[in-house]
Amino acid sequence: MQLFFLLLTFRLLPRAEAGKIIGGHEAKPHSYPYMAFLQIKTSEKTKICGGFLVHEDFVLSAAHCWGSKINVTLGAHNVNKKERTQQHIPVRRAIRHPAYDNSTTANDIMLLQLMRNANLTAEVSTLQLPRRTMLVMPGRVCRVASWGRIQVNKSTDRLHEVELEVQWDKECISLYKDHYNSATQLCVGDPREMKSSFKGDSGGPLVCNNVAQGIVSFGKKNGRSPRVYTKISSFLSWIKETMRSIPLQRPD
Ligand SMILES: *[C@@H]1O[C@H](CO)[C@@H](O)[C@H](O)[C@H]1NC(C)=O
Ligand SMILES: *[C@@H]1O[C@H](CO)[C@@H](O)[C@H](O)[C@H]1NC(C)=O
Ligand SMILES: *[C@@H]1O[C@H](CO)[C@@H](O)[C@H](O)[C@H]1NC(C)=O
Ligand SMILES: *[C@@H]1O[C@H](CO)[C@@H](O)[C@H](O)[C@H]1NC(C)=O
Repeated sequence: MQLFFLLLTFRLLPRAEAGKIIGGHEAKPHSYPYMAFLQIKTSEKTKICGGFLVHEDFVLSAAHCWGSKINVTLGAHNVNKKERTQQHIPVRRAIRHPAYDNSTTANDIMLLQLMRNANLTAEVSTLQLPRRTMLVMPGRVCRVASWGRIQVNKSTDRLHEVELEVQWDKECISLYKDHYNSATQLCVGDPREMKSSFKGDSGGPLVCNNVAQGIVSFGKKNGRSPRVYTKISSFLSWIKETMRSIPLQRPD
């Protein structure tokens, strides 16, 4: 009954309210104080990803962003400038979800334990994780921010943001077939809008009402929406268990 009412409410909202997507644009500096810029070294190359601070010494990101060496920058707006607000912290341990599958990108979630605590400031703070019971309804408009590509050939060194609408699971099931699992993933981005998460923004959070509900995971190479996000509420016990147990282990 409640679900029906919510759906009805959503249908009655004018399209401009319910489904409005504002194109990607530069974010107001430090309006995403939990955003982390990751520089990652793998055996072949260095790459960048996004992530977000969930505890003074833990950043959450995507498992496919893993590398043998990772540096985290917090408090940045322009990552190629030396800003007073920036904090640079190397990663002590990168813990991928044990069920992460690099051929299907299932369970694409990773916790990064920082070498030292971040100093919490106006420009560096943590983002709230969802409560298990919170559902992200299709039609919900959320935000993604990143330092990734803002167009096919255009990169940026300043943080950009975009608003995206959560889709029904069936949209991603028809596009991604059995690579989409509605129990652990979210389907995000209206296919009728030429908007999506940016290239190179993997690992960044999908933020709905100041709560991290998703992690940018994968999508079609052409940048088309909808795209697939890791559903954070399905991994809460792994996140909590890992953050509880890791600090108790002796450093390597
Ligand atoms: C991390 O930062 C250190 C110190 O600035 C630097 O020597 C190293 O190359 C960086 N590693 C990566 C993967 O960016
Ligand atoms: C936090 O602040 C202390 C004291 O100012 C400083 O020594 C330390 O380097 C800071 N940590 C980071 C990660 O910037
Ligand atoms: C996936 O993991 C397997 C086993 O660890 C590894 O051999 C392979 O290179 C990985 N593939 C990619 C694309 O990272
Ligand atoms: C992107 O840049 C490459 C190399 O400069 C070029 O070959 C390609 O056509 C460009 N793609 C687009 C969509 O502009």
